[in-house]
Amino acid sequence: MDLGLKGRKAIITGATKGICRATAELLAAEGCDLAICSRNPDDVADAVAALSAHGTKVWGSACNVRKAEEYDAWLKQAAAELGGCDIFVPGVSAGGGMEGEKSWYRNFEIDVLGCVRGVDTLFEFLKDSGNAAVVFISTTAAVETFMAPMAYNALKASLITYAKQMSQVHMKRGIRFNVVSPGPIMVPGGAWDQIRAQDEGFYNSIVAQQPDGRMGDPDEVARCIAFLASDAASWVTGVNLIVDGGFTKRVQF
Ligand SMILES: NC(=O)c1ccc[n+]([C@@H]2O[C@H](COP(=O)([O-])OP(=O)(O)OC[C@H]3O[C@@H](n4cnc5c(N)ncnc54)[C@H](OP(=O)(O)O)[C@@H]3O)[C@@H](O)[C@H]2O)c1
Repeated sequence: MDLGLKGRKAIITGATKGICRATAELLAAEGCDLAICSRNPDDVADAVAALSAHGTKVWGSACNVRKAEEYDAWLKQAAAELGGCDIFVPGVSAGGGMEGEKSWYRNFEIDVLGCVRGVDTLFEFLKDSGNAAVVFISTTAAVETFMAPMAYNALKASLITYAKQMSQVHMKRGIRFNVVSPGPIMVPGGAWDQIRAQDEGFYNSIVAQQPDGRMGDPDEVARCIAFLASDAASWVTGVNLIVDGGFTKRVQF
C-alpha cells in the first residue's frame, strides 16, 4: 500500500527521542521533509544528522514548547524552512506528576496548549496544503482509570474532544484531525524505564496486565501515526486510535 507520504512536509515536536523520534524516522523513510525540535540543541543536531540519512530535507532547532513566543517563532520558522506544512504531530508532553496545581499548569501549557497553539500558528499552512493531517498523542490513561487522579490523564483526555471538534469544522478545508492513544511504551531512558528502575514490582504489575506480556515499542505507535497522517487514511478524521496491545479492557463502541 502506498501511503502517499512522499514529498509531504511534516512538523513534529519532541522528536529527538521515543515515539516522536520513531515517527520522524518513519516519515523520513517514507519520503517526508521534516522539521523537528526538543529543548536540547545537541540532541536536535544529532537527530537532524541521523534523520537526514533518509535523503529528505530535515531541519531542526532547539525549542521549549512551553514558552509561547519561542514556540510560535519556531513553528513559523519550521514552516518557512519546509515551504509549508501538510502534517503536524505535536508530541511533547510534560508527563505524569502529582504536584498539585504545578502539574495542572505544566500539563495544560505543554500537553494542551502545545497542540492548540501549534494548530493556531500553523493553521494557514495546513489550510493551504489542501490535504493536511494533524495527529495528537493522548494516552490510554485518558480513557480508562489508571494509577491515580492526575492532571496528565485528564488533560490528555481534552485532546480527544478538541480533535473531534476540529475534525467536524475543518474537514471541508482539507484538514483531518486524529488522535493516537498509546498504552505503556518502553522508551530507553523514558518514563517506564525509570519506573522499572525505581519500582520493579509496579512495573511488573503493568506488564502482567498486557495480554502479550510486554510493553509496546515506539515503532508500533509511529506506524499508526504515519497511517493517520497519510493519504491511506484520507476519510479518517476525528478518531481516537488506541494503540495498546489490549491493555485497556473497555469495549470501544
Ligand atoms: N511512553 C509511553 O508509555 C506513552 C504512553 C502514552 C502516551 N505517550 C505520549 O507520547 C508522547 C511521546 O512520549 P515518549 O514517552 O515517546 O516521550 P519521551 O521519550 O519522553 O520524549 C520526549 C521528547 O520530547 C522532548 N521534550 C520534552 N519536553 C519538551 C519541551 N518542553 N519542549 C520541547 N521538547 C520537549 C524531549 O527532549 P528534551 O527533553 O531534550 O527536550 C524528547 O525529544 C507524549 O505525548 C506522551 O504523553 C507516551
